[in-house]
Amino acid sequence: IRVYVPCDSIARGVGADDVASAIIATAKARGDNVEVIRNSSRGMFWLEPLVEVATDAGRVGYGPVSVEEVASLFNAGFLTGTDHALSIGLVEEHRYLKTQERLLFARAGVTDPLSLTDYEANGGYAGLRHAVKIGADKTLDEVQTSGLRGRGGAAFPAGIKWGTVKGAKADQKYVVCNADEGDSGTFADRMLMEGDPFLLIEGMTIAGLTTGATQGYIYVRSEYPQAIAHLEAAIKTAEAAGYLGNNVMGGGHAFWLQVRKGAGAYICGEETSLLESIEGNRGLVRAKPPLPALQGLFGKPTLVNNVLTLASIPDILAKGGEYYHNFGMGRSRGTMAFQLAGNIRFGGLVEKAFGLTLRELLEGYGGGTASGKPIRAVQVGGPLGAWVPEAHLDTELDYEAMAAKQAMLGHGGCVVVDDSVNLAKLAQFAMHFCAEESCGKCTPCRIGSTRGVEVIQKIRDKQDQAKNVALLEDLCETMLHGSLCAMGGMTPFPVMSALRHFPEDFGLASKEVQ
Ligand code: NAI
Ligand code: SF4
Repeated sequence: IRVYVPCDSIARGVGADDVASAIIATAKARGDNVEVIRNSSRGMFWLEPLVEVATDAGRVGYGPVSVEEVASLFNAGFLTGTDHALSIGLVEEHRYLKTQERLLFARAGVTDPLSLTDYEANGGYAGLRHAVKIGADKTLDEVQTSGLRGRGGAAFPAGIKWGTVKGAKADQKYVVCNADEGDSGTFADRMLMEGDPFLLIEGMTIAGLTTGATQGYIYVRSEYPQAIAHLEAAIKTAEAAGYLGNNVMGGGHAFWLQVRKGAGAYICGEETSLLESIEGNRGLVRAKPPLPALQGLFGKPTLVNNVLTLASIPDILAKGGEYYHNFGMGRSRGTMAFQLAGNIRFGGLVEKAFGLTLRELLEGYGGGTASGKPIRAVQVGGPLGAWVPEAHLDTELDYEAMAAKQAMLGHGGCVVVDDSVNLAKLAQFAMHFCAEESCGKCTPCRIGSTRGVEVIQKIRDKQDQAKNVALLEDLCETMLHGSLCAMGGMTPFPVMSALRHFPEDFGLASKEVQ
């Protein structure tokens, strides 16, 4: 009998390893024939460790399972999928999963992350096989047809970036995966790298073959040791199987891959400082132009894409760009991995086509706040994202619809707060965060963020409020337009949105502050 216990960091953090050992020991003591498989996580974190048992009807889930509960599960006959207080029934029928549209996370919780056989048996490497067959030009056509936009946050059309790198003439080109997932409330990159590492490797290989790059780097933040370990193991397996190397799948193209570990700087998620870091330098932002697509790593044309952008590619090649394009709305095509975090009842991963509303996401899937109090606001898109008030929760999750509300989608992370939270404090925290993480290269960000902390404190202390609000607005304008990169350029978003929607938290009388 097959029993699945996730090996995802979140599951392990709440005791999955001990639960797996307890299941093995109990089965042995009872003489039950059990094979424990360490699968990836389904992304329903409140149920972790979520133990699944394979039955004729499908996998039956039990969660959250603690070591103390293992004996009672055996006594209740859980190996045949029987009822128990922790039973959630057939996992794929669970309301959280059933209505999701999982393209990127189709294998989440289903497979053993490090089993190439499992990956291939579940559609893996069909995309690369097709790309090798149709060649670089037609592969690029498929990516362009898909309408895929960069999933790191900026949403730049992937097909245009790929075309720029492909068209550049150089003796050496690179593909770099930005896996320095630093946004608050985000974990989709980590889940994907830990849970389905071959998918990212396959996407990067297709990118290499299409653009003419022969070397790829995955820049992973040091806080993700398990993602690094899984990627390194999967790269070795892929090399041994001929999916990486001098002659990828016998198609005559070379592509090699290496993992590079970051050292904990948020700014190294910005593409040019990330390239500096790979080159062995301090993570300082470079001015653009030149674009990395033309002069990137070691001055060579470099395709820099986020984990989820590259991991979207295999499906696009396997099923066609048109198939992918059929998901989503407007200029936001395909699916988005939304990450529910903060004060939320059912935290986890929801992959859906663009177009559902924030309310459907946070109340429908997330079940509202964990505290049971009303949702007051949600910060979408990380620490540089705007605070969206409850009144705007009916906004559709689409890049342009969010921008129309002076908010952004970013990397899809959502941090929810209830009415016990003071938004002026969070605005001040945004400035403080910028001051801590600024690379120091340009003045609006380096100096402005520190002055921002001070001026918000003065407003909160009710010192000369009108003058200081005007000063804060002026400072935000300067940071917005005068900063070299998004760090200083976007910190005004959480600050100004908090001021605009929650002036009372700043001790201001007027509801409408411009
Ligand atoms: P950007 O808009 O400057 O550039 C987007 C991408 O398109 C870059 O790779 C750029 O090189 C490329 N590009 C622009 N014009 C091009 C052209 N004509 N041809 C080829 N390539 C071209 O945005 P940036 O500064 O790269 O990213 C900012 C975003 O990063 C923010 O929106 C924020 O959401 C996100 N972010 C994400 C984090 C995460 O943890 N995922 C953390 C912090 C920020
Ligand atoms: Fe560095 Fe901040 Fe300027 Fe970006 S905005 S280059 S992080 S100082």
